[in-house]
Amino acid sequence: MIRLGVNVDHVATVRQARLTYEPDPVFAAYLAELGGADQITVHLREDRRHIQERDLRILRQTVTTRLNLEMAADEKILEIALDVKPEQATLVPERRQEVTTEGGLDVKRMMKRLSSVIQRLQDKEIFVSLFIAPEEEAVRASARVGADGVEFHTGEYANTRGDSERISQLERLRKACELGHSLGLHIAAGHGLTYTNIHPIKNLPYLEEVNIGHSIIARAIYVGIEEAVRQMKELLK
Ligand code: PXP
Repeated sequence: MIRLGVNVDHVATVRQARLTYEPDPVFAAYLAELGGADQITVHLREDRRHIQERDLRILRQTVTTRLNLEMAADEKILEIALDVKPEQATLVPERRQEVTTEGGLDVKRMMKRLSSVIQRLQDKEIFVSLFIAPEEEAVRASARVGADGVEFHTGEYANTRGDSERISQLERLRKACELGHSLGLHIAAGHGLTYTNIHPIKNLPYLEEVNIGHSIIARAIYVGIEEAVRQMKELLK
């Protein structure tokens, strides 16, 4: 069964809109686990627009599944990650102006920095995944730089309109999964995945994990987090 990572950043986004104490992503993470989440994912951004260091530190104590920290390969965040020790770190590109993580890491260009960050995380027994586009060059570079796994950016797939575009994006993802696996990488996918577009994704070869935030938290507004997670888990079966 594919591992479901539930990203609770949006819960913190609502809290930060009023700079208050509610809703609390820690409580949301607890409910997500009750609904069947296999992993809690948070992105501690440099600008702290949603998740705060306090959230991450409490989640480290309360999450009973796995904690996956999405992070830029930035020194200050790295020091926090090495101290908090999540089970997994997913390295992502970060731009202050973006609404969400818009593209994959440019692994080839960042080779030197990434290999040192990956090594330091792995020295603390943190599993390291790289968030990349499903492209041959990025997959090969991820294996070369020593990552344990990759998370393929499914944003372009999610934005497709019509069958032919969708099929070609799925084919691109399929090839990337095959290649990643053949190079010894663990395979995950995420970004823009919803209750309606998840179906073909779950059949990708060697896929071990998906990370989903927006769609689950949006549905949670109507049905509650536990139920929203339960429904997504059901679709992943
Ligand atoms: N995976 C990664 C690496 C991400 O950066 C994000 C967005 O924070 C997600 C998954 C979840 O994306 P969405 O909120 O579109 O489900």
